[in-house]
Amino acid sequence: MRTPSKVKTLALFASGTGSNVRCIHAHFSPDPDVEIGILVCNRPDAAVVSFARDQNIPVRLMTREDLHDPSRLIADLQAAKVDLVILAGFLWKIPGEMVAVFPDRILNIHPALLPRYGGKGMYGKHVHEAVIAAGETESGITIHLVNDHYDEGAILFQARCPVHPDDTPEQLAERIHQLEHQHYPNIIEHYLSSIS
Ligand code: GRF
Repeated sequence: MRTPSKVKTLALFASGTGSNVRCIHAHFSPDPDVEIGILVCNRPDAAVVSFARDQNIPVRLMTREDLHDPSRLIADLQAAKVDLVILAGFLWKIPGEMVAVFPDRILNIHPALLPRYGGKGMYGKHVHEAVIAAGETESGITIHLVNDHYDEGAILFQARCPVHPDDTPEQLAERIHQLEHQHYPNIIEHYLSSIS
C-alpha cells in the first residue's frame, strides 16, 4: 500500500499580472500532495488577486504596516501551515523577521542572470533596459533562495536566452517570461521534494 505523503503547502507572493502564479497553479493543480494555501499581494487591484479569488485561493493583502511589523503576516502564514514561500513578481522586500522564520524556505525568480543586474531598483523592465544598454548578447533567469539582501541568496537554477541586437525591453521580457514559465514550476517541485 502506498504510504500517504504529507501535503505540502505553498504561499505565493505576487504584485502584478501573475503569469508565473498561473503557471505554478496549473502545474500543481493535478497534484494532491501540493496545495496553494494562500496568495499574498500588496495591490488589491492586481490581476493576480482576481485570478486567486476565481480559483478559491485565500488572498491575504499585505500592507505597509505588515512591512514594518510582519508578525501578523507571519502568523497568517503559519496558520495556513505554509511549507514554502514562492515569490513570483513580488515587488516589496521581504522583512528580515520573515526570512528568519522561513530559513531556506523562500524562493524568488529574477529575470536576469544574477549576480549581475540584481539589487534594489532592478525589477521589471528596468532589468531588461539595463541588459540591452550594456550590449549583452545573453540574458536569462535566476531562481534563488531569499536572504536579507536583495537578490543575493544562494542560486538554485539559471537558464539562458539570447539578447538580439535590435531587441526592445518588451521583446526581451517576453523571451524571459517564456523561460520562467517553462522552469519555475519544475524547480519548485524539485525543491519541495528535497525538504522535509
Ligand atoms: C517576472 O519576470 C519575475 O521574474 C519578476 O517579476 C515578473 C513577474 O511576472 N520577479 P508575472 O507577474 O508572473 O507575469
